[in-house]
Amino acid sequence: MTKNNFAVETRGLRKSFGSVEVLKGIDLQVERGTVYAILGPNGAGKTTLVNILSTLIRPDSGTAQVFGLDVVHDADKVRGMVGLTGQFAAVDEELSGRDNLVLFGRLTGYGRKAAYARADELLDAFDLTDAAYRHAGKYSGGMRRRLDIAAAMLVMPDLLFLDEPTTGLDPRSRNGVWDIVRTLVDRGTTVLLTTQYLEEADQLADRLAVIDGGTVIAEGTAAELKASVGSGTVHIRLTKPEQRALAEQVLQRELDAAAVRLHAEPASLSAQVSDPELAARLLTELSREGIETVQFSLGQPSLDEVFLALTGRPAEEEKEENVS
Ligand SMILES: Nc1ncnc2c1ncn2[C@@H]1O[C@H](COP(=O)(O)OP(=O)(O)OP(=O)(O)O)[C@@H](O)[C@H]1O
Ligand SMILES: [Mg+2]
Repeated sequence: MTKNNFAVETRGLRKSFGSVEVLKGIDLQVERGTVYAILGPNGAGKTTLVNILSTLIRPDSGTAQVFGLDVVHDADKVRGMVGLTGQFAAVDEELSGRDNLVLFGRLTGYGRKAAYARADELLDAFDLTDAAYRHAGKYSGGMRRRLDIAAAMLVMPDLLFLDEPTTGLDPRSRNGVWDIVRTLVDRGTTVLLTTQYLEEADQLADRLAVIDGGTVIAEGTAAELKASVGSGTVHIRLTKPEQRALAEQVLQRELDAAAVRLHAEPASLSAQVSDPELAARLLTELSREGIETVQFSLGQPSLDEVFLALTGRPAEEEKEENVS
């Protein structure tokens, strides 16, 4: 079973749906006991990849191993070692949180008493004891996500897949999920999660891969990825939106025409800077030109900015948001 050091290893993984090639040769290595994040915009193929690794669908070609076991040929054994909480998890909304866990427990082979005991233990660990007897359909997004993960934890998997565990959650619930993931990893579980948020990868992941257009376009630690994009991003909000064109010129001049982004909000723009000192000079230059700013901050690049730098175009996610 322990042929190598990796919890997950894929080589040249490909998958098409009809004429659409979703994965065009994915190579990944996830070390045991770590958290690995797959980052990508909507439709990048994250769920497809997770579904292959958790044996729900088969790749067209290439290989994928989980703890050295082939996900196609040793699918049964792999299934016994992994837990999956999908993007659209299978919680029964008509049942209480507790009954959901008991049901899943029974399905995975727990006896009646043991299933109740484990359910109560998990409800407690996931801070759901107060809501234990309420219908899962009435749970908030955050509670629902915690219940999903609790269900996946019934079998204490060696490898847990979390497909966008925090998309749509408020910051507090998101932190709750992050805490749970950290606890799991402390107990030795390897976690592979997908996310659209660089910050999530940053907070949780030891390493991450950015996928786009069916291939891995960047791989490394969050710090490495950000460093490749530049040390940070200045976010500027102007007092007068009509000064934005001039501000844009100043930024382009001072930053050597690096990517300056104009935001939907008419007084806002941002740009990547390679060096914090440059940011300080920008502020001076802006005020020298008579441009007033309400807000001027130097932050870490967002996923969208990493994308922009890596691909030369914004992430799909943002485009869609602007349309709707
Ligand atoms: N069963 C399927 N049949 C046909 N096309 C599919 C199927 N599953 C996925 N696709 C297509 O494959 C592409 C990748 O989908 P996938 O769900 O893997 O993306 P994703 O990265 O998980 O996106 P999201 O962030 O929206 O969850 C999409 O274009 C999707 O429409
Ligand atoms: Mg998905």
